[in-house]
Amino acid sequence: MHALSTIPCLPEATSTPLGAEVYRGLTRMPKRLSPWIFYDQRGSELFEAITELPEYYLTRTERAIFAERGEEILEAAGAPELAMIELGAGTAVKTDVLLEAAVRRELAVTYYPIDISESALDEAGRRIGERLPQVAVEPRLADYTRNLGVIPSPDCPRLVLYIGSSIGNFEPAEAAALLRDLRRRLAPGDLLLLGVDHVKERGTLLRAYNDAAGVTAEFNRNALCRINRELDAKFRPGLFQHRAVWNERESRIEMHLESLIGQEVPIRALGLTASFRRGESIHTENSYKFTPEAAAELLKRCDFAPQASWSDARGWFGVYLAEAA
Ligand code: AVJ
Repeated sequence: MHALSTIPCLPEATSTPLGAEVYRGLTRMPKRLSPWIFYDQRGSELFEAITELPEYYLTRTERAIFAERGEEILEAAGAPELAMIELGAGTAVKTDVLLEAAVRRELAVTYYPIDISESALDEAGRRIGERLPQVAVEPRLADYTRNLGVIPSPDCPRLVLYIGSSIGNFEPAEAAALLRDLRRRLAPGDLLLLGVDHVKERGTLLRAYNDAAGVTAEFNRNALCRINRELDAKFRPGLFQHRAVWNERESRIEMHLESLIGQEVPIRALGLTASFRRGESIHTENSYKFTPEAAAELLKRCDFAPQASWSDARGWFGVYLAEAA
């Protein structure tokens, strides 16, 4: 009858998304943290700075594909009236290029940016309203990784944008589960535009995640700064070294934070002390890279029929258009 009293009482903070994730991630072996933790206000600013680094080719390469092939991409989409729905839109700067192409082709477009950041959605709405008044903008404040039910069902064909290699943060099984869930919510004929980073020479990949200016290192350590602030923890970020490695077998870049010394770190809101051996690391991110074949396979496994794809001259980044089959 006293079964309840034998359940250890966890501090309240373990029931917040951040508290639960940090508790789970730092009490397991090997330790790990989810990449969404990077993106507080400072982390989002650091990511913006990453996209402008000379070594980080992803964002500018995808943008160049949109700039050069945007009209072709929208022509392949084929409908005079289109709902463009973007998962994890952020401030949607890259998407402007596609929206401009749609306006040039005189398509009637409603743009639905979906994101967890209200300030990013506000900025996107304001900028597009000024620059492209022909485009109706209908922002949705939501976490698409938790609830794809937020996807609108208008009376016209849908083109879902899942760009920026965001899919690369998920394990293969999770990525497939997300795309299958998306497929289930679409109607036959609706379209998906998926942007993925391609497998390439390892030096190029490693430099993109090990920039000379150290912005990626700061972005990685920002996870600890956020935990300090939001969970009353005592990480000393300078005692953790940024490490990015290419895991060829898994086809992914991994980011780690490696403890430079043996140390104990109190995380007061969780009633927890995390112990680190010297050289022990926290695995903070996976960034999967795809061959064109692997990208097409993933789409097919999730009941999307690949229709067309675009890449840059070096084949570094790929944009895949697929139809809900
Ligand atoms: C936003 C997930 C596409 O994996 O390249 C950039 C995040 N991490 N530098 C990526 C990131 C380190 C980025 N994505």
